[in-house]
Amino acid sequence: MKIITVLGSPNLDGNTAAVLGWVEDEINAFGHEFERINLYEKEIFGYLGENSPECKDAHEIMQKIIAADAVIISSPLYCFDVSYKVKALYEQFALFSDMKKFKGKKAALLVTAAGSFENNADKVGPIFSKVINCLYFEEAGQLILTKISRDSLDDEVRKDARDFVVNII
Ligand SMILES: Cc1cc2nc3c(=O)[nH]c(=O)nc-3n(C[C@H](O)[C@H](O)[C@H](O)COP(=O)(O)O)c2cc1C
Repeated sequence: MKIITVLGSPNLDGNTAAVLGWVEDEINAFGHEFERINLYEKEIFGYLGENSPECKDAHEIMQKIIAADAVIISSPLYCFDVSYKVKALYEQFALFSDMKKFKGKKAALLVTAAGSFENNADKVGPIFSKVINCLYFEEAGQLILTKISRDSLDDEVRKDARDFVVNII
């Protein structure tokens, strides 16, 4: 199985990247393959109105997803939702003319947040579900990690990362 992993954090060495790294280790440990896309290294923009130009980097990502079996989208929680780059990717997905090509592919969400779940991280998962359901993906899980700091990235989170992967493969 080939899985596209999308890092939607600007911090290549941050909390989200650390957990995504564990997820990728587990993908390999189960004998599967991944390809990481660092979204902040790509030129991704959202819808820019009538005559919005084609977002080439978003199209490339979508072609990679179409050639794979699953995608894991990861993001820090920024202002109660995904980062603006992930939101821009959602908009590009919504504009994509060939979205039926995602049919049968799995999509999962990983989020790290400093605060609590209630009144903070409780909307990011339902929004993701709505977006990917419109796009014909099969939802394969959500790992919403709250009260996360560098010190809290322990064995328990590592186990959560493993369970998250088991659900996808
Ligand atoms: C601009 C900004 C906005 C944030 N907004 C929230 C928020 O709404 N709720 C929350 O729990 N944490 C928020 N945080 C904290 C991050 O979600 C948290 O520290 C996350 O683990 C950072 O991941 P990263 O190291 O990949 O950037 C915010 C951080 C930044 C920099």
